[in-house]
This record gives sequence, structure tokens and C-alpha cells, in this order.
Amino acid sequence: LVPVITIDGPSASGKGTVAQRVAAALGFHYLDSGALYRLTALAAERRGVVWRDELAVAKLAGELDAVFDGAAVLLDGNNVTEAIRSEGIGIGASVVAALPAVRSALLARQHAFAEAPGLVADGRDMGSVVFPDARLKVFLTASAQARAERRHKQLLAAGEPADLAAIAADLESRDARDRARKVAPLQQWADALLLDTTDMGVDEAVEQVLSWWKN
Ligand code: CDP
Repeated sequence: LVPVITIDGPSASGKGTVAQRVAAALGFHYLDSGALYRLTALAAERRGVVWRDELAVAKLAGELDAVFDGAAVLLDGNNVTEAIRSEGIGIGASVVAALPAVRSALLARQHAFAEAPGLVADGRDMGSVVFPDARLKVFLTASAQARAERRHKQLLAAGEPADLAAIAADLESRDARDRARKVAPLQQWADALLLDTTDMGVDEAVEQVLSWWKN
């Protein structure tokens, strides 16, 4: 059985960075499950399929021609690394992610990432639905204020205009949507260890996950 570490948590908590660093430290594969929902939303947009059309979007999700090549993401052979990170596609991702048929269409693809020597999987339902038998489950979070400040810093570094209050409001509504929907709601699972990174740097968060893994 391939060992799996799941890291679930809210937007802008820093779980992606921590998950990638843990994977690199252990020599494990890395699954960014949010990217699959973003790719599905982008594929639908490019084919003129509306995000709420559950069956049509699920069909696209099942047939997604996606390649993860290091940090680059390809869709139908085109580099979409930046395109899937746009705000509009983030909204589309959360719309298509609320459709049960889309989630099941992406299950097999997510399971396929669990290859030797191991996997670190990042998302909302990694420990609950996709990899319920994972050996270590982490719920990584931070206060709303800390998460808004992190996203703000990220946008400024990317040279994008950013307003802290607007970002905080956006995160709040995204969390509410992720928490309230019927499938894969955002919550801490009973068997996940809580990692609150409000007053913690990335290095310290990575060290904590690695020490849980080793013990
Ligand atoms: O960090 P951020 O929420 O901006 O983006 P993400 O992790 O790339 O996920 C994009 C969207 O996909 C989220 O808003 C969730 O609604 C959804 N998602 C999900 O439903 N299940 C997952 N395992 C991962 C993401």
C-alpha cells in the first residue's frame, strides 16, 4: 500500500506550499486537487460549456487531457499554469466543485497520483473522501486575518493590484461557500491533526508535519 499524507484546509491557508515542501522533503509525489477543479472550469469555459451543466462538465472532467510537469500545468497540450490561477477560474472551480458528478469523475484521476514511494495530497476532501485510509491526515488552517494578509502579499509580489479588505471579504465568502455546500464541505475530520499556522512560518509548519510523519 502506497503511503499517503493528506493536507486539507481553507483558501490561502498556505497548505499548498506546505504540502509541496513536505513532498519534496520525503521524495513523495504531490497532488494539487484544487488544480483539477480549476482545469475542469477552464476546459468548460474554452469549450463553451456552462459551469452549472453537471453532466456536460462531468464528461469533460472525466476526459480531461491534463499533464502536470513539475510546476507547469498543460491542458490539451497548452501551458495553462497561469490561466488556471485567475480569479475568474477560481470562482468557476468552486462552482464545478459543488457538482457531485464532477467530483466522482475526478476520483479515479486523483487515486492515480498515489504511486510509490508515496503521495502528499492537498485539498478540501483528501482525508475524508479521496484517501480515507491515509496514514497521516492534517487539517491546516490560519486565522481569517492571517490568510488575507498572505494572499495580499502574494498578489503584490506578483505585481497585481490588491486591496486587503476586499481580499478578506472574498476569502470569507469562499469559505462560507466551501463550508455550506452539500458535497465535500470544509471541516476538520475527527482523525485529522489540527495545524494552526496563524503564528507559524512555512518552515515550522513543514517541520511539524514531518515530525508527525516520523512519529
Ligand atoms: O486555495 P484556493 O481555494 O484559492 O484554490 P484551490 O485550492 O486551487 O481550489 C479551488 C476551488 O476548488 C476551491 O475553492 C474549492 O471550492 C474547490 N476544491 C474542492 O472542492 N475540493 C478539493 N479537493 C480542492 C478544491
